[in-house]
Amino acid sequence: MARITVPTQPIAGQKPGTSGLRKKTRVFMQPHYLENYVQAIFDGINGVEQKVLVVGGDGRFFNDRAIQTILRMAAANGAKSCIVGQNGILSTPAASHLIRKNGTDGGLILSASHNPGGEDEDFGLKYNGPNGGPAAEHVTDEIYALTQTLSEYHTTDSADIDLSQIGTTTVEGMTVTIIDPVTDYAALMETLFDFEALRGLFAGGFRMRFDAMHAVTGPYAKAILEETLGAPAGTVVNATPLPDFGGGHPDPNPIWAHELMDLMMGADAPDFGAASDGDGDRNMIVGRGQYVTPSDSLAVLAALAHLAPGYAAGLSGVARSMPTSGAVDRVAAKKGIECFETPTGWKFFGNLLDAGRATLCGEESAGTGSNHVREKDGLWAVLLWLNILAASGKSVAELMADHWAEYGRNYYSRHDYEDVEADKAAALMTDLRAQFATLPGQSFGPLTVASADEFSYDDPVDGSSSTGQGIRIGFTSGGRVVFRISGTGTVGATIRVYLEDYETDPAKLHRDAQEALAPIIAAAEAIAGIRAHTGRDAPNVIT
Ligand code: G1P
Ligand code: ZN
Repeated sequence: MARITVPTQPIAGQKPGTSGLRKKTRVFMQPHYLENYVQAIFDGINGVEQKVLVVGGDGRFFNDRAIQTILRMAAANGAKSCIVGQNGILSTPAASHLIRKNGTDGGLILSASHNPGGEDEDFGLKYNGPNGGPAAEHVTDEIYALTQTLSEYHTTDSADIDLSQIGTTTVEGMTVTIIDPVTDYAALMETLFDFEALRGLFAGGFRMRFDAMHAVTGPYAKAILEETLGAPAGTVVNATPLPDFGGGHPDPNPIWAHELMDLMMGADAPDFGAASDGDGDRNMIVGRGQYVTPSDSLAVLAALAHLAPGYAAGLSGVARSMPTSGAVDRVAAKKGIECFETPTGWKFFGNLLDAGRATLCGEESAGTGSNHVREKDGLWAVLLWLNILAASGKSVAELMADHWAEYGRNYYSRHDYEDVEADKAAALMTDLRAQFATLPGQSFGPLTVASADEFSYDDPVDGSSSTGQGIRIGFTSGGRVVFRISGTGTVGATIRVYLEDYETDPAKLHRDAQEALAPIIAAAEAIAGIRAHTGRDAPNVIT
């Protein structure tokens, strides 16, 4: 066995997006492709000599083989050791926790999140830094620049190691420690939540369904909900992580988790339903007969987190991505705490969490989290909801009704137009920009435009700025529409249209969201000409 240096050439298109590099699995499987990117990551963080890294992924197709490649390359590049989840499994929040708990130099997380998995589907890889969070933009920019100049990478010709054996082994002098993926994460959850109260909740007959969507949270949810907290066997469904996630989209929203939705809206609904995504950072929350939008979930959690022991001292502040509804802003205002509006993508929350400026963060795309790790965390959100339900003795529907009565309701929906030709999507955005000066004052049905601009962000902690983060059109009603091009797609462009309106009339707090938003939806079409630009009659996905 020996260290070898392989000559290679730059590979086009290795530009990481908001969540690392995501491509079709077959693209990653091309000769030298993964290797080039891994070497660029190592070089982009000033080498890995004597460094300690966490390595794990969501178990999708190619996860195991990619990990073997990464371990060989880490050894050849002089890393001291790697901490690896058994069978290559680590949820994204669990990986974040391991990086922090062990004070490592960061980690490599293998996932394409909620995108389908399989040989013909998606794969992804990202580097998280020593704080446990996704690498800052200047680091991913540096990594990308290196992919364009790389001429060689280092690996070894050593054999694969057995990822199923817990314990310590070596690859070319580098230590590999294989750990149970759940243990440390479960211990962290126990420090935050009242496990006694949760045991009491289940012992008292409270029933829930957790849909792991054949993805990574299965083992975590089974260990915590069923084995530790006493939820009946079978509470966690689709609990075994599969390389192709059973052929579905492991994306916890009413479309992809429709079986759970049907159950929760039906006559035999349990008290509570939840789901998580491919790599375990997203969540869906649904009560009996009551879906909770991610934006509302963030607001309710911010209002009531103090009911859980880990947050009993209150929150230092909250943060949401710009397209997320303003529901949490109203909670922050009432509590007199800071509320930050950041660009889309979890990495922007990292500085605020590190600086102690925010305790809870969230995105409209079903991501919620806190300062316990530096990623969003699906199972954490579920446990916080359970803790609030146990402490308040109320149902999800009662909590939502109380919340809207107190703060008003931010009706919210996102319409996605997927796989639009990139130039058509760009033209739609360009046409919108051209209207910034003329839109204010114009009326569309009952709505009048108050403002139109493009969001940019100056990081209050490190002073960096990010521009071009989405076009916002505000209405005098307090409603708004946001247009943004997705940064995580792997084919064509996805146009996201985020729609929101604010309601305080007690008689209008329980309407269907699409109905309540109809005037905003019509205004969005009138302003942007989505149909004319894309040739599409309707969005592909409405959440
Ligand atoms: C999407 C979500 C965004 C999230 C990201 C990673 O990114 O919209 O909130 O942070 O996935 O999970 P987008 O495709 O919109 O760029
Ligand atoms: Zn995810």
